[in-house]
Amino acid sequence: MTSSLPQFHQLSLAEKIKIIARFSSLTKEDLKLIRQYQKLPDFIDFENNIGPFKIASHFLVNDKDYFVPMEIEEPSVVAAASRAAKIIREGGGFFGRYLGNQMIGQLQLFGIKNFQKAKKEILKSKKEILKIANKTNEFLLKISGGAKDLEVRKVNPIRKNKFSNRARNFLVLHLFVDTKDAMGANIVNTMLEKITPLVKKISGGQIGVRIISNFAEKRIVFVEARVPIKKLALGKFSGEKVAKGILAAQELAESDIYRAVTHNKGVMNGIDAVAMSTGNDYRAIESAIHSFAAKDGKYKPVTNWKLEKKFLKGEIKIPLPIATVGGATGTKKAKLALKILRVKNAQELGIVAASVGLSNNLAALSVLGTEGIQKGHLKLHQEFLRKTKND
Ligand code: MEV
Repeated sequence: MTSSLPQFHQLSLAEKIKIIARFSSLTKEDLKLIRQYQKLPDFIDFENNIGPFKIASHFLVNDKDYFVPMEIEEPSVVAAASRAAKIIREGGGFFGRYLGNQMIGQLQLFGIKNFQKAKKEILKSKKEILKIANKTNEFLLKISGGAKDLEVRKVNPIRKNKFSNRARNFLVLHLFVDTKDAMGANIVNTMLEKITPLVKKISGGQIGVRIISNFAEKRIVFVEARVPIKKLALGKFSGEKVAKGILAAQELAESDIYRAVTHNKGVMNGIDAVAMSTGNDYRAIESAIHSFAAKDGKYKPVTNWKLEKKFLKGEIKIPLPIATVGGATGTKKAKLALKILRVKNAQELGIVAASVGLSNNLAALSVLGTEGIQKGHLKLHQEFLRKTKND
Protein backbone atom coordinates (compact mmCIF):
# COMPACT_ATOMS: atom_id res chain seq x y z
CA MET A 1 0.00 0.00 0.00
CA THR A 2 1.26 3.42 -0.90
CA SER A 3 0.98 6.81 0.81
CA SER A 4 1.68 8.46 -2.53
CA LEU A 5 -1.77 9.26 -3.82
CA PRO A 6 -2.21 12.05 -6.35
CA GLN A 7 -4.31 14.91 -4.95
CA PHE A 8 -4.80 13.19 -1.59
CA HIS A 9 -5.46 16.59 -0.01
CA GLN A 10 -8.31 17.26 -2.41
CA LEU A 11 -10.27 14.15 -1.48
CA SER A 12 -13.26 14.57 0.81
CA LEU A 13 -12.73 14.17 4.54
CA ALA A 14 -14.55 10.80 4.49
CA GLU A 15 -12.41 9.54 1.59
CA LYS A 16 -9.16 10.57 3.26
CA ILE A 17 -10.12 8.85 6.49
CA LYS A 18 -11.18 5.70 4.63
CA ILE A 19 -7.76 5.49 2.98
CA ILE A 20 -5.88 6.02 6.24
CA ALA A 21 -8.12 3.57 8.09
CA ARG A 22 -7.26 0.86 5.57
CA PHE A 23 -3.59 1.80 5.39
CA SER A 24 -3.09 1.74 9.17
CA SER A 25 -5.77 -0.81 10.14
CA LEU A 26 -7.72 1.65 12.29
CA THR A 27 -10.48 0.25 14.50
CA LYS A 28 -14.01 1.55 15.12
CA GLU A 29 -12.71 3.08 18.35
CA ASP A 30 -9.98 4.95 16.44
CA LEU A 31 -12.52 6.31 13.98
CA LYS A 32 -14.78 7.37 16.84
CA LEU A 33 -11.88 9.30 18.38
CA ILE A 34 -11.18 11.04 15.07
CA ARG A 35 -14.85 12.06 14.81
CA GLN A 36 -14.77 13.47 18.34
CA TYR A 37 -11.95 15.80 17.32
CA GLN A 38 -13.96 16.88 14.28
CA LYS A 39 -16.70 18.08 16.64
CA LEU A 40 -14.39 20.50 18.44
CA PRO A 41 -15.21 24.18 17.83
CA ASP A 42 -11.89 24.88 16.09
CA PHE A 43 -11.99 22.01 13.61
CA ILE A 44 -11.82 23.10 9.98
CA ASP A 45 -12.25 20.67 7.11
CA PHE A 46 -9.39 22.01 5.04
CA GLU A 47 -6.53 20.42 3.10
CA ASN A 48 -5.10 17.50 5.06
CA ASN A 49 -6.78 18.14 8.39
CA ILE A 50 -8.61 15.04 9.65
CA GLY A 51 -9.41 16.27 13.17
CA PRO A 52 -6.75 15.50 15.78
CA PHE A 53 -4.00 16.46 13.32
CA LYS A 54 -3.17 17.02 9.67
CA ILE A 55 -1.75 14.25 7.50
CA ALA A 56 1.28 14.48 5.22
CA SER A 57 1.47 12.02 2.35
CA HIS A 58 4.10 10.63 -0.08
CA PHE A 59 6.69 9.67 2.55
CA LEU A 60 8.90 6.73 1.63
CA VAL A 61 11.51 6.11 4.33
CA ASN A 62 13.88 3.13 4.32
CA ASP A 63 11.61 1.58 1.67
CA LYS A 64 8.49 1.83 3.87
CA ASP A 65 5.47 4.02 3.19
CA TYR A 66 4.12 6.48 5.75
CA PHE A 67 1.22 8.80 6.21
CA VAL A 68 2.57 11.28 8.76
CA PRO A 69 0.32 12.95 11.38
CA MET A 70 1.46 16.54 11.93
CA GLU A 71 0.08 18.80 14.65
CA ILE A 72 0.62 22.35 13.46
CA GLU A 73 -1.62 25.34 12.87
CA GLU A 74 -0.29 26.14 9.37
CA PRO A 75 -1.72 23.95 6.59
CA SER A 76 1.04 25.15 4.25
CA VAL A 77 3.72 23.34 6.32
CA VAL A 78 1.96 20.00 5.78
CA ALA A 79 1.39 20.74 2.09
CA ALA A 80 5.08 21.67 1.71
CA ALA A 81 6.29 18.51 3.49
CA SER A 82 4.12 16.37 1.21
CA ARG A 83 5.20 18.19 -1.95
CA ALA A 84 8.91 17.70 -1.21
CA ALA A 85 8.40 14.08 -0.06
CA LYS A 86 6.81 13.38 -3.45
CA ILE A 87 9.89 14.71 -5.27
CA ILE A 88 12.28 12.85 -2.93
CA ARG A 89 10.36 9.66 -3.64
CA GLU A 90 11.39 10.01 -7.29
CA GLY A 91 14.97 9.52 -6.13
CA GLY A 92 14.17 6.43 -4.02
CA GLY A 93 12.97 8.17 -0.86
CA PHE A 94 14.73 8.84 2.44
CA PHE A 95 17.32 6.58 4.03
CA GLY A 96 18.13 6.96 7.70
CA ARG A 97 19.65 5.42 10.79
CA TYR A 98 20.48 6.27 14.40
CA LEU A 99 24.15 6.56 15.37
CA GLY A 100 23.49 6.02 19.08
CA ASN A 101 20.70 5.90 21.63
CA GLN A 102 22.14 7.25 24.86
CA MET A 103 21.01 10.18 26.95
CA ILE A 104 23.42 11.95 29.30
CA GLY A 105 22.64 12.66 32.96
CA GLN A 106 24.66 15.27 34.88
CA LEU A 107 25.57 15.15 38.54
CA GLN A 108 27.40 18.25 39.80
CA LEU A 109 29.73 18.23 42.80
CA PHE A 110 31.48 21.22 44.29
CA GLY A 111 33.82 22.01 47.14
CA ILE A 112 36.19 19.19 46.14
CA LYS A 113 39.74 19.85 47.28
CA ASN A 114 41.58 17.28 45.18
CA PHE A 115 39.87 16.81 41.81
CA GLN A 116 42.21 14.08 40.50
CA LYS A 117 41.81 12.01 43.65
CA ALA A 118 38.00 12.31 43.59
CA LYS A 119 37.92 11.43 39.89
CA LYS A 120 40.08 8.35 40.49
CA GLU A 121 37.88 7.19 43.35
CA ILE A 122 34.67 7.63 41.33
CA LEU A 123 36.08 5.73 38.34
CA LYS A 124 37.26 2.97 40.69
CA SER A 125 33.64 2.56 41.86
CA LYS A 126 32.15 2.76 38.36
CA LYS A 127 30.75 -0.78 38.41
CA GLU A 128 29.01 -0.22 41.71
CA ILE A 129 27.58 3.15 40.64
CA LEU A 130 26.20 1.67 37.40
CA LYS A 131 24.71 -1.22 39.37
CA ILE A 132 22.85 1.16 41.69
CA ALA A 133 21.63 3.16 38.68
CA ASN A 134 20.39 0.04 36.91
CA LYS A 135 18.57 -1.23 40.00
CA THR A 136 16.10 1.62 39.49
CA ASN A 137 14.77 0.16 36.26
CA GLU A 138 15.07 -3.58 35.89
CA PHE A 139 12.73 -3.67 32.92
CA LEU A 140 15.03 -1.35 30.96
CA LEU A 141 17.95 -3.59 31.82
CA LYS A 142 16.02 -6.64 30.63
CA ILE A 143 15.48 -5.09 27.21
CA SER A 144 19.23 -4.31 27.04
CA GLY A 145 18.91 -0.62 27.90
CA GLY A 146 20.06 1.08 31.08
CA ALA A 147 23.12 2.90 32.44
CA LYS A 148 26.07 1.87 30.28
CA ASP A 149 28.97 4.02 31.34
CA LEU A 150 30.07 7.17 33.10
CA GLU A 151 32.70 9.84 32.79
CA VAL A 152 34.09 12.48 35.13
CA ARG A 153 34.64 16.03 33.86
CA LYS A 154 36.19 19.14 35.34
CA VAL A 155 34.21 22.30 34.59
CA ASN A 156 35.79 25.64 35.39
CA PRO A 157 33.21 28.24 36.38
CA ILE A 158 33.50 31.24 34.07
CA ARG A 159 32.33 33.73 36.67
CA LYS A 160 34.89 34.46 39.37
CA ASN A 161 32.50 35.30 42.15
CA LYS A 162 32.76 34.60 45.83
CA PHE A 163 31.21 31.20 45.43
CA SER A 164 33.46 29.92 42.66
CA ASN A 165 36.60 31.28 44.33
CA ARG A 166 35.80 28.95 47.14
CA ALA A 167 34.81 26.06 44.89
CA ARG A 168 37.52 26.62 42.22
CA ASN A 169 35.98 24.11 39.83
CA PHE A 170 33.14 21.65 39.55
CA LEU A 171 33.38 17.94 39.23
CA VAL A 172 30.60 16.80 36.87
CA LEU A 173 29.75 13.15 36.56
CA HIS A 174 28.10 12.17 33.27
CA LEU A 175 25.96 9.05 33.31
CA PHE A 176 25.32 7.51 29.87
CA VAL A 177 21.96 5.76 29.66
CA ASP A 178 20.37 3.86 26.80
CA THR A 179 16.73 4.79 27.38
CA LYS A 180 15.44 2.61 24.51
CA ASP A 181 12.01 3.85 23.33
CA ALA A 182 11.59 6.45 26.10
CA MET A 183 12.79 10.05 25.90
CA GLY A 184 14.47 9.23 29.19
CA ALA A 185 14.21 12.27 31.46
CA ASN A 186 12.44 10.38 34.26
CA ILE A 187 14.66 7.31 33.91
CA VAL A 188 17.89 9.32 33.99
CA ASN A 189 16.84 11.71 36.76
CA THR A 190 15.82 8.80 39.00
CA MET A 191 19.16 7.09 38.41
CA LEU A 192 21.09 10.27 39.23
CA GLU A 193 19.26 10.74 42.51
CA LYS A 194 19.83 7.13 43.50
CA ILE A 195 23.60 7.19 42.87
CA THR A 196 24.01 10.50 44.71
CA PRO A 197 24.74 9.17 48.25
CA LEU A 198 27.52 6.86 47.04
CA VAL A 199 29.10 9.48 44.76
CA LYS A 200 28.97 12.06 47.58
CA LYS A 201 30.63 9.62 49.97
CA ILE A 202 33.44 8.64 47.59
CA SER A 203 34.22 12.15 46.38
CA GLY A 204 33.72 14.10 49.59
CA GLY A 205 32.03 16.86 47.57
CA GLN A 206 28.79 18.72 48.01
CA ILE A 207 25.92 17.90 45.71
CA GLY A 208 24.67 20.36 43.08
CA VAL A 209 22.34 19.74 40.12
CA ARG A 210 21.24 16.26 39.14
CA ILE A 211 19.34 16.28 35.86
CA ILE A 212 19.32 14.97 32.29
CA SER A 213 21.21 17.07 29.75
CA ASN A 214 19.16 18.20 26.77
CA PHE A 215 22.36 18.37 24.75
CA ALA A 216 21.64 14.87 23.42
CA GLU A 217 24.83 14.43 21.39
CA LYS A 218 24.81 10.65 21.84
CA ARG A 219 21.35 10.16 20.30
CA ILE A 220 21.98 11.28 16.76
CA VAL A 221 19.86 10.46 13.73
CA PHE A 222 21.18 10.71 10.19
CA VAL A 223 18.92 10.81 7.12
CA GLU A 224 19.84 11.31 3.47
CA ALA A 225 17.94 11.64 0.21
CA ARG A 226 18.77 12.10 -3.47
CA VAL A 227 16.54 14.18 -5.72
CA PRO A 228 16.78 13.98 -9.52
CA ILE A 229 17.50 17.61 -10.47
CA LYS A 230 14.92 17.56 -13.28
CA LYS A 231 12.17 16.73 -10.78
CA LEU A 232 12.83 19.96 -8.89
CA ALA A 233 11.26 22.01 -11.72
CA LEU A 234 8.70 24.44 -10.33
CA GLY A 235 6.26 26.46 -12.50
CA LYS A 236 8.33 28.34 -15.02
CA PHE A 237 11.60 27.46 -13.26
CA SER A 238 13.71 24.55 -14.52
CA GLY A 239 15.11 21.92 -12.16
CA GLU A 240 18.61 23.38 -12.66
CA LYS A 241 17.43 26.87 -11.70
CA VAL A 242 15.73 25.54 -8.56
CA ALA A 243 18.84 23.54 -7.60
CA LYS A 244 20.98 26.64 -8.03
CA GLY A 245 18.71 28.56 -5.65
CA ILE A 246 18.87 25.76 -3.09
CA LEU A 247 22.68 25.69 -3.19
CA ALA A 248 22.89 29.47 -2.84
CA ALA A 249 20.54 29.32 0.17
CA GLN A 250 22.63 26.52 1.70
CA GLU A 251 25.83 28.55 1.31
CA LEU A 252 24.29 31.62 2.90
CA ALA A 253 23.05 29.51 5.86
CA GLU A 254 26.55 28.10 6.35
CA SER A 255 28.06 31.58 6.38
CA ASP A 256 25.51 33.66 8.22
CA ILE A 257 23.71 33.14 11.52
CA TYR A 258 20.75 35.32 10.46
CA ARG A 259 19.99 32.88 7.65
CA ALA A 260 21.07 29.69 9.49
CA VAL A 261 18.51 30.18 12.27
CA THR A 262 15.67 30.66 9.76
CA HIS A 263 16.89 27.67 7.73
CA ASN A 264 16.72 25.53 10.87
CA LYS A 265 13.34 26.99 11.86
CA GLY A 266 11.98 25.59 8.61
CA VAL A 267 13.40 22.17 9.51
CA MET A 268 11.77 22.39 12.94
CA ASN A 269 8.37 23.18 11.35
CA GLY A 270 8.28 19.51 10.33
CA ILE A 271 9.99 17.91 13.31
CA ASP A 272 7.97 19.78 15.96
CA ALA A 273 4.71 18.91 14.21
CA VAL A 274 5.53 15.17 14.36
CA ALA A 275 6.76 15.52 17.95
CA MET A 276 3.48 17.19 18.93
CA SER A 277 1.14 14.75 17.22
CA THR A 278 2.92 11.83 18.92
CA GLY A 279 2.89 13.42 22.40
CA ASN A 280 6.61 14.13 22.55
CA ASP A 281 8.47 16.84 24.46
CA TYR A 282 9.11 19.22 21.57
CA ARG A 283 10.94 21.71 23.84
CA ALA A 284 13.55 19.05 24.64
CA ILE A 285 13.87 18.31 20.94
CA GLU A 286 14.21 22.02 20.05
CA SER A 287 16.88 22.50 22.75
CA ALA A 288 18.82 19.47 21.55
CA ILE A 289 18.81 20.45 17.89
CA HIS A 290 19.59 24.16 18.26
CA SER A 291 22.42 23.52 20.73
CA PHE A 292 23.83 20.86 18.42
CA ALA A 293 23.73 23.41 15.58
CA ALA A 294 26.03 25.63 17.65
CA LYS A 295 28.29 22.94 19.12
CA ASP A 296 31.42 24.05 17.23
CA GLY A 297 31.10 27.62 18.47
CA LYS A 298 29.33 28.82 15.33
CA TYR A 299 25.60 28.33 14.69
CA LYS A 300 25.19 26.20 11.55
CA PRO A 301 22.40 24.75 9.39
CA VAL A 302 21.49 21.20 10.45
CA THR A 303 20.90 20.10 6.87
CA ASN A 304 23.22 20.06 3.90
CA TRP A 305 22.44 20.12 0.18
CA LYS A 306 25.03 19.42 -2.50
CA LEU A 307 25.25 18.33 -6.14
CA GLU A 308 25.98 14.70 -6.91
CA LYS A 309 25.96 14.11 -10.67
CA LYS A 310 22.34 14.49 -11.84
CA PHE A 311 21.06 14.57 -8.30
CA LEU A 312 20.78 17.02 -5.47
CA LYS A 313 21.77 15.21 -2.30
CA GLY A 314 20.33 16.27 1.03
CA GLU A 315 21.41 15.23 4.51
CA ILE A 316 20.26 15.94 8.03
CA LYS A 317 22.24 15.02 11.14
CA ILE A 318 20.64 15.95 14.45
CA PRO A 319 20.14 14.72 18.00
CA LEU A 320 16.57 13.47 18.23
CA PRO A 321 15.42 12.31 21.67
CA ILE A 322 11.96 11.24 20.53
CA ALA A 323 9.88 8.52 22.20
CA THR A 324 7.15 5.97 21.58
CA VAL A 325 6.67 5.13 25.27
CA GLY A 326 6.38 7.24 28.42
CA GLY A 327 5.06 10.73 29.09
CA ALA A 328 2.24 11.92 26.85
CA THR A 329 2.96 9.30 24.17
CA GLY A 330 0.36 7.20 25.97
CA THR A 331 -2.56 9.59 25.41
CA LYS A 332 -5.33 8.50 23.05
CA LYS A 333 -4.37 11.06 20.44
CA ALA A 334 -0.65 10.20 20.48
CA LYS A 335 -1.40 6.48 20.32
CA LEU A 336 -3.58 7.10 17.29
CA ALA A 337 -0.77 9.09 15.63
CA LEU A 338 1.71 6.26 16.30
CA LYS A 339 -0.76 3.75 14.89
CA ILE A 340 -1.26 5.79 11.72
CA LEU A 341 2.53 6.00 11.38
CA ARG A 342 2.87 2.21 11.87
CA VAL A 343 6.23 2.73 13.62
CA LYS A 344 7.66 -0.13 15.67
CA ASN A 345 9.93 1.87 17.96
CA ALA A 346 11.30 5.30 18.83
CA GLN A 347 14.22 5.09 16.41
CA GLU A 348 11.88 4.44 13.50
CA LEU A 349 9.79 7.43 14.59
CA GLY A 350 12.93 9.59 14.84
CA ILE A 351 14.03 8.63 11.33
CA VAL A 352 10.59 9.57 9.97
CA ALA A 353 10.54 12.87 11.91
CA ALA A 354 14.00 13.81 10.62
CA SER A 355 12.83 12.96 7.09
CA VAL A 356 9.90 15.34 7.53
CA GLY A 357 12.35 18.04 8.69
CA LEU A 358 14.52 17.49 5.62
CA SER A 359 11.42 17.58 3.43
CA ASN A 360 10.22 20.90 4.84
CA ASN A 361 13.71 22.28 4.37
CA LEU A 362 13.79 21.23 0.70
CA ALA A 363 10.32 22.67 0.12
CA ALA A 364 11.34 26.03 1.64
CA LEU A 365 14.70 26.32 -0.15
CA SER A 366 13.18 25.35 -3.51
CA VAL A 367 10.79 28.30 -3.48
CA LEU A 368 12.95 30.87 -1.67
CA GLY A 369 15.38 31.22 -4.60
CA THR A 370 12.69 31.04 -7.30
CA GLU A 371 9.02 32.01 -7.06
CA GLY A 372 9.30 33.21 -3.44
CA ILE A 373 7.65 31.91 -0.28
CA GLN A 374 4.52 34.03 -0.44
CA LYS A 375 2.94 32.59 -3.60
CA GLY A 376 2.09 29.10 -2.34
CA HIS A 377 2.06 29.91 1.36
CA LEU A 378 -0.17 32.98 1.15
CA LYS A 379 -2.61 31.38 -1.29
CA LEU A 380 -3.16 28.49 1.06
CA HIS A 381 -3.20 30.71 4.11
CA GLN A 382 -5.83 33.03 2.66
CA GLU A 383 -8.03 30.09 1.67
CA PHE A 384 -7.60 28.79 5.20
CA LEU A 385 -8.59 32.13 6.72
CA ARG A 386 -11.62 32.35 4.45
CA LYS A 387 -12.68 28.88 5.59
CA THR A 388 -12.08 29.80 9.22
CA LYS A 389 -14.49 32.74 8.90
CA ASN A 390 -17.16 30.79 7.01
CA ASP A 391 -17.23 27.69 9.20
C1 MEV B 1 8.69 29.58 7.68
O1 MEV B 1 7.86 28.98 8.66
C2 MEV B 1 9.90 28.72 7.40
C3 MEV B 1 10.89 29.31 6.39
O2 MEV B 1 11.25 30.62 6.80
C4 MEV B 1 12.10 28.40 6.36
C5 MEV B 1 13.26 28.95 5.57
O3 MEV B 1 13.37 30.17 5.35
O4 MEV B 1 14.10 28.11 5.16
C6 MEV B 1 10.26 29.45 5.02
